[in-house]
Amino acid sequence: DTAGKVIKCKAAVIWEKSAPFSIEEIEVATPKAHEVRIKIIATGICRSDDHAVEGKLSNVKFPIILGHEAVGIVESNGENVKHIKPGDRVIPLFVPQCGQCMCCKDSRSNICIAAKLKKSVGVMSDGTTRFTCRGKQIYHFVNTSTFTEYTVVEEMAVTKIDSGASLDNTCLIGCGFSTGYGSALNTAKVHPGSTCAIFGLGGIGLAVIMGCKIAGAGRIIGVDVNPDKFNIAKELGATECINPKDYDKPVAQVILEQTGGGVDYAFECVGHIETMLAALNSSHFAYGTTVIVGVSAPESTITFDPMILLSGRTLKGSVFGGWKSKDSVPQLVSDSMAKKFDLEKLVTHRLPLDKINEGFDLLHSGKSIRTILLV
Ligand code: APR
Ligand code: ZN
Ligand code: ZN
Repeated sequence: DTAGKVIKCKAAVIWEKSAPFSIEEIEVATPKAHEVRIKIIATGICRSDDHAVEGKLSNVKFPIILGHEAVGIVESNGENVKHIKPGDRVIPLFVPQCGQCMCCKDSRSNICIAAKLKKSVGVMSDGTTRFTCRGKQIYHFVNTSTFTEYTVVEEMAVTKIDSGASLDNTCLIGCGFSTGYGSALNTAKVHPGSTCAIFGLGGIGLAVIMGCKIAGAGRIIGVDVNPDKFNIAKELGATECINPKDYDKPVAQVILEQTGGGVDYAFECVGHIETMLAALNSSHFAYGTTVIVGVSAPESTITFDPMILLSGRTLKGSVFGGWKSKDSVPQLVSDSMAKKFDLEKLVTHRLPLDKINEGFDLLHSGKSIRTILLV
């Protein structure tokens, strides 16, 4: 029985910006009040973890344990944890839901500001971390830190899921799948018969396609500079695919011509300014909605003629697909178990945690959609 004791276990630590993952033995402290210690079973590799390694995210301090898309089992609780008990299957929530803050209480938002009010990033509410390695304090990542056998999170940043949920690809509900799927259903609110364009056919863009399909979109246009992604996009619901490199004119113009004036919904799932503008320019002048899902480089700015919006276009974005995390994740897991969508379609590789650097090599090469690390 490990409850009440410090746990020594394996974790992938990033010691400094741009360094590779280093497999280390770490100590995981006991959870304090309102905290939960979790045994991580499976965790996906997401582009945002890579942005963090490269120092492209503002909320990151080194040394750190990254990872934010996971499924696991509760090992023990700190005091005053109300809705979760040891043995429960859970998904950590990088967008928490405290239920008390002004955004949590507002049905229009899923951004909980409780976590943002901390004085310092990478630490728990009391200002300290629960990880140490070689005598050094190791920072946490976006309320989660899942590239480890054990982690500690706040109760507001974890949700219980069905006791029969798979402890494998269910991890994708913790980020990639839900982000894309919700962008279509919650943020854009895709309507039956509509035309959609998805820029970037990685894990996020493919999950957007799954959402557009379920919403009953009539045309789903996948856009990617890597045509290797077209088969899977079509399998998931894309009705056609466009490679911008096949044309001498801007891809937005190609889409305007092929749709007779622009799409109802355009989604940017790359994280580049150029594709954000291309998405906006491919949306219908009178009623097109563009949703930014990709995360751009820090301090990037976007420039466009404001008249482009005046005729009726909408430009918006969302984090975690607009889902209020604690409320929605259990339902998404149940929907997955009921085969409403197939998470396995997004999984191309599985590796043990020790081979995490290989997993990131696959991400960089464009060969993987999602790699799941089995911890
Ligand atoms: N036009 C169209 N597609 C492009 C372009 C471009 N100019 N440049 C790159 N792409 C494609 C890539 O070929 C790849 O298939 O975009 C896709 C991006 O996929 P991934 O790298 O797998 O990224 P993903 O995990 O899907 O995340 C996309 O969302 O959450 C954010 O941080 C994440 O910004 C990233 C974005
Ligand atoms: Zn809140
Ligand atoms: Zn992610």
